[in-house]
Amino acid sequence: MENDNLLTIRNLSVELMTARGVVHAISGVSLDIYRGNIHGLVGESGCGKSITSKSIMRLLPEGRARISGSIDFDGSKLLALSEKQMAKLRGAEISMIFQEPMTSLSPLKTARAQLEGALANHTNLSRAERRFRAENLLERVGFPRDRAKRYPFELSGGMRQRVMIAQAISCNPKLLIADEPTTALDVTIQAQILALLRDLQNEYGMSVLFVTHNFGVVSQICDRVSVMYAGNIVETAAAEELLSNPMHPYTRALIGCIPRGSGQRDRLFALPGSPPLLYEIPDACRFAPRCKYADEQCLSAPYHRTTGTHTVACHHVSADSAGGI
Ligand SMILES: Nc1ncnc2c1ncn2[C@@H]1O[C@H](COP(=O)(O)OP(=O)(O)OP(=O)(O)O)[C@@H](O)[C@H]1O
Ligand SMILES: [Mg+2]
Repeated sequence: MENDNLLTIRNLSVELMTARGVVHAISGVSLDIYRGNIHGLVGESGCGKSITSKSIMRLLPEGRARISGSIDFDGSKLLALSEKQMAKLRGAEISMIFQEPMTSLSPLKTARAQLEGALANHTNLSRAERRFRAENLLERVGFPRDRAKRYPFELSGGMRQRVMIAQAISCNPKLLIADEPTTALDVTIQAQILALLRDLQNEYGMSVLFVTHNFGVVSQICDRVSVMYAGNIVETAAAEELLSNPMHPYTRALIGCIPRGSGQRDRLFALPGSPPLLYEIPDACRFAPRCKYADEQCLSAPYHRTTGTHTVACHHVSADSAGGI
């Protein structure tokens, strides 16, 4: 499968220097994102989803982050690129959308001008061509033509999100990173934005890394999914396989806790306990303190196992148990 990867992350670790000491935000993360795939990254708050995304974009806090491992993107080793080379990729070949559009929209530019600006930075299009393309992009993401000259503060959350998506796809990226892009929106708008992203993925053939804490969202749009816990990836599989045959006790707990029905979009998992603070690297399975299957074995080094395309890091899942703990 290696050749089908657009993005290959191996053994990625990030340490952040904070006033209270070094935080081991993520450790030993390996991830394959296939071409033309939507890959979900799921887990509770603080498990390292955003740090993983920002590592790919090389947007970690300057001077305060130490990063190791490798990130291969379409033949380039991202961690070896100069800032200048990276700036060329960022926003063009790899782009990112955030939960809060105001982080990537300029408050001083109209919706259309945001897109024209992105096109001016990354293409050689003429002014007239940029305007034409910006208008087409707005139309494509379902943004009303008569609002093209409005500023972000004059737009609803859903409309801002559409502008940000249009900006992110304006240069035909090969990889789109979406970090909880629908969490702040109400359920109906959330569904529309998910459908839009799925359609755009199909049309443009790009790969998407979709960060969420919601398995409902995973089942709606993801092809594959990785589950993170306390800075590690604990399970990766095709979305259908993972949802129907979750193997890691953490994944099972999360799936058992999917909020059902409407109006509960922001409820977090009702899994007792909380993830460990990551000031030191535990030499045990990180989930052990919250795991009902934990025994002495789990307090030694965590176990990593691969069965074809379904990988699980758990002492209790053996090759022949196929998930039957
Ligand atoms: N700027 C920062 N300074 C210090 N520690 C940070 C910083 N950003 C993140 N961390 C720490 O890194 C770890 C991973 O955080 P990250 O933001 O990646 O989590 P997340 O999975 O995206 O959570 P959420 O679902 O809340 O967005 C956490 O322990 C967090 O406290
Ligand atoms: Mg985050």
